[in-house]
Amino acid sequence: MKFFIDTANVEQIKEANDMGVLDGVTTNPSLMAKEGIKGEENCRKHYVTICNIVNGDVSAEVIATQYEGMIREGEELAALHPNIVVKIPCTADGIKAIKYFSSKGIRTNCTLVFSPGQALLAAKAGATYVSPFVGRLDDISSDGIELVEKIVNMYATYGFHTNVLAASIRSTQHIIQCIEAGADVATCPLSAIKGLLKHPLTDSGLATFLADHERVNR
Ligand code: E4P
Repeated sequence: MKFFIDTANVEQIKEANDMGVLDGVTTNPSLMAKEGIKGEENCRKHYVTICNIVNGDVSAEVIATQYEGMIREGEELAALHPNIVVKIPCTADGIKAIKYFSSKGIRTNCTLVFSPGQALLAAKAGATYVSPFVGRLDDISSDGIELVEKIVNMYATYGFHTNVLAASIRSTQHIIQCIEAGADVATCPLSAIKGLLKHPLTDSGLATFLADHERVNR
């Protein structure tokens, strides 16, 4: 399973990339706003900065909601860097735009997906990635991981090539559940990725190894 980091924060992206296990980055307009990046030119510069840090796919989301605007904006975003994946919401115009980009060889990430039916449309349109939002479903007492499983099974049954990119990951436990569900990618906060390292037996085992080494070498 690939790891993407879900942030527009350059320091966090660098830290995750330095671990040597990062496969890509997802951003969205809220994450860009959180970093105080505003204006079209600054946003685009920021995407290029991210692309120059990480050797992997970087999702950049369109702001347009109508088909023509999505096409114009998506083509401009895709031209910024070869690693850009155009992120498009799962709406009627969005699905149509994904179909267009697919025919032009421009890679897409269909975002804001909350049902198997939406994931079916994204795959039929030729999306490179589909992003089921795990945490936001859990937030409303639904089951985000179950949706990931359903999409993985549907794509396997029908032979779709769209990658299942589990999004809205909130915890390390979510990452483990995504592995079990067969997600192709999980896009995660840095804290959830670092949480994978934590185990008390690793800490106590290392402390014992170092103490034993010190005892005979002092
Ligand atoms: C990623 O593609 C999504 O934009 C992101 O994971 C949303 O996460 P949130 O539900 O924590 O905002």
